[in-house]
Amino acid sequence: MARSAHPQYNVHERRKDFPALSRMIGTTPLVYLDGPAGTQVPRSVIDAIVRYYETSNANTHGQFLTTRETDALISEARSAVAAFLGAGSPSLVSFGANMTTLAFSLSRALVRSFRPGDEVLITQLDHEANRGPWLAMREHGIIVREIPVKADATLDYAAMASMVNERTRLVAMGWASNAFGTVNDVALARKLTYRVGALLLVDAVHYAPHFPIDVSAAGVDFLLCSAYKFYGPHVGILYCRENLLDSLATDRLRTQDAVAPLRIETGTQNHAAIAGVTAASEYIASLGQGETLRARIVSAMAMVGRHERALGQRLHAGLSAIAAVTVQGPPFTKTRRAPTVSFTVDGKRPEEVCAALGEKGICAWDGHFYAIRPVEVLGLLERGGVTRVGVSLYTTDEDIDRLLDAVRAIARSR
Ligand SMILES: Cc1ncc(COP(=O)(O)O)c(C=O)c1O
Repeated sequence: MARSAHPQYNVHERRKDFPALSRMIGTTPLVYLDGPAGTQVPRSVIDAIVRYYETSNANTHGQFLTTRETDALISEARSAVAAFLGAGSPSLVSFGANMTTLAFSLSRALVRSFRPGDEVLITQLDHEANRGPWLAMREHGIIVREIPVKADATLDYAAMASMVNERTRLVAMGWASNAFGTVNDVALARKLTYRVGALLLVDAVHYAPHFPIDVSAAGVDFLLCSAYKFYGPHVGILYCRENLLDSLATDRLRTQDAVAPLRIETGTQNHAAIAGVTAASEYIASLGQGETLRARIVSAMAMVGRHERALGQRLHAGLSAIAAVTVQGPPFTKTRRAPTVSFTVDGKRPEEVCAALGEKGICAWDGHFYAIRPVEVLGLLERGGVTRVGVSLYTTDEDIDRLLDAVRAIARSR
């Protein structure tokens, strides 16, 4: 089997950046294949969080040294995320507790400008965080319809094209599936929504760790992601196209700033974690090359993407070769696919598979991972869902070998 990790990419060097990767179970290192649920963080991110508490801990918009430092640090984080996303300005980047909370805030704001009978499209493939907030609009008379998912966990684009119409106000779609690794056709969604003047919202939580993002080129109106999936802390991120957030009736205190990016940021943010978001963006950039932070991030993401894809293909092929294993989701022959692979083992519930993997020090998740709708539609829910393994920038060939050996042993033990 070809082992074609990117030649300029030294994964063993990179692993030294992540303190958690030295954790052992008995005499063997833990294998972290649970990146889709949250990646480990490099030392520089941990240091940035600690440094904030040691030096600059204060509230914002005050008149003394540490409050000014806090303001500056939050501005820097917006700039770093703007570079990460290809956003034209730091003022297009808002922070929140997590993606789900930001999506609910947006939903409440958007519905105030919608009328009963307006339509919103969601997908059957998405994580519940990109469904529940839009389904809640039904309470206001909004018609929420689902773009169907097909048996290979790809979206039915013919159905999508027929569902977008003059009444459509919003299409909310994931960029990559956290359960099956499918990458969705955001460009097509953009074309369809543009034709009817609908808004396009993209959940990039699972896409952001694996592919460079250019929100301007993608032409999305809103994009949501979460830093803890790309080597940062637990912070939700919202990109809103220029002038859009200022026009929304967000939930706001009388005392709160009325303009973007603050218009949707309620209460006090997690400043220390936001310092960690800058560090995570800079960590990724440090792996790449180029004149600007943006150029270094894009080159790093392309290089990491090639490493992850090579391992993802090995993982997919290795699991597919085990007779008792059924790999779900699209194949790797499709040009774009996240390196996240879900599978079932005949005669074993995913929970049992993950417990057996856990005993061998392999971190993998079972169930539906909040992507309950596709797991349900594909008929996997009553069987306990699937076992999911994901490749991150620190994943090695040895990790994949250990997983494959362990799954073969589980399959033999049936
Ligand atoms: C694709 C996807 N969307 C949304 C979310 C929710 O993100 P958060 O935990 O930041 O609310 C997740 C979390 O797993 C996810 O994988």
